[in-house]
Amino acid sequence: DAAFDFVVVSNRLPVDYVVDAEGTQGWRSSPGGLVTALEPVMREADGAWVGWAGVADREFEPFEHDGISLVPVPLSAAEVEEYYEGFSNDTLWPLYHDVIAPPSYHREWWDAYVRVNRRFAEAAIRAAKRDAVVWVHDYQLQLVPRMLREARPDLVIGFFDHIPFPAYGIYSQLPWRRQVLDGLLGADVIGFQRQADAGNFARAVRRVFGYATRGSVIDVPDESGELRRVVARRFPISIDTASFEELAARPEVRERARQIRESLGNPKTIMLGVDRLDYTKGIRHRLKAYGELLREGRLEVEDAILVQVASPSRERVETYRQLRDEIELMVGRLNGDYSTLGHQAIAYLHHGYPREEMVALYLAADVMLVTALRDGMNLVAKEYVASRIDDDGALVLSEFAGASDELRQAVLVNPHDIEGLKDAIVEAVHMPRKEQSRRMRALRRRVRDNDVANWSASYLETLTGSGTIRPGLS
Ligand code: G6P
Repeated sequence: DAAFDFVVVSNRLPVDYVVDAEGTQGWRSSPGGLVTALEPVMREADGAWVGWAGVADREFEPFEHDGISLVPVPLSAAEVEEYYEGFSNDTLWPLYHDVIAPPSYHREWWDAYVRVNRRFAEAAIRAAKRDAVVWVHDYQLQLVPRMLREARPDLVIGFFDHIPFPAYGIYSQLPWRRQVLDGLLGADVIGFQRQADAGNFARAVRRVFGYATRGSVIDVPDESGELRRVVARRFPISIDTASFEELAARPEVRERARQIRESLGNPKTIMLGVDRLDYTKGIRHRLKAYGELLREGRLEVEDAILVQVASPSRERVETYRQLRDEIELMVGRLNGDYSTLGHQAIAYLHHGYPREEMVALYLAADVMLVTALRDGMNLVAKEYVASRIDDDGALVLSEFAGASDELRQAVLVNPHDIEGLKDAIVEAVHMPRKEQSRRMRALRRRVRDNDVANWSASYLETLTGSGTIRPGLS
């Protein structure tokens, strides 16, 4: 305990504890962009990671995995239901994504959220040396910064919100809107994906507390009335760009991409969607647009196929179950209506894949479709761009994904506008090679100039006044 200068706190550890069908138990890399984003930083800083192992009713001692110290926080089955599936993913997730699905408000879920946030805070407090830097992540843990500050005023406390922060008119629905803002304001720096998110947060703070904000600075009075400076601004997250470029250059990955194309019958155009199976991703809108293009003959199954990877997610939450049923019904209908014996309209894959296979898919795809209705960043868009090392391919990107702030040379769409989405898909499918390469070069430069190392360095520089966590910071 109390051994670390740098402590990352997130709901999930970078590994999940899994038991397979044969009863074999072990640790496996867990899903989510956060892991991809933070692993390289953790290795460098020699820190500890506090998080949940992804299973209920199991306690684990702290341990090391791939050179990273992990501190597991246990959750009971009831806490998984009320804190994770309930308050995090059935209250906050839909609320913060502009109520695309209706959020549920339950007082027992809130009580569990407070209790579990406290347990995470206590684990971080035990792990953190005096004057350590503690970096808390995402909507599941918004109360932790304040809990840390109250117990340990010596700590440097950061928070990063990976998902959108909604406008006050929506945020104000939350019965605990005051407590959540106060929890976040315990941090020294609160990071957001987009300027719009930071602006929404500052407005909420003005409305609820009346605190003064100057640009990205909020003056927060402490008990003695003294003002403490909190910075709230954008730090758009990114990917480990070089590792995608490296994978995309490997002969065996390129060969796999060729095999994928061949197994799909070498069509003229492969379109690709890659998402967690989540209602924020606009998968239904994408399928609707694609189906209409086939119906109208603007696309033909002889020439084009849509590969949709939908990785399983939050399957015990009812909204997610319903979504899966709806999507699988749509896929079945589209294939029934438009597939021929030799040509499939959609290849639908309800699996997650290792990164190598993903890069092979990105290389195989002529057109990438990212049609999120709301998305904090969307790292899939950046992964596609980073993998296109031959400077070809076209990206159709929703303006409601944070990535659209940076990836301006994509074909930008409003996914609610089905006609506009159809036109964008057709434009991408027919984009001349020269135009593809002009755009892709600019896009690639963007994800190279702002990779995940830049992201964390820039965040930590703002948080600590220097770019790295040095041992013996005090
Ligand atoms: C999003 C969230 C992450 C979360 C991930 C996977 O990217 O911002 O905090 O870990 O989805 O979702 P899950 O519920 O499986 O952790």
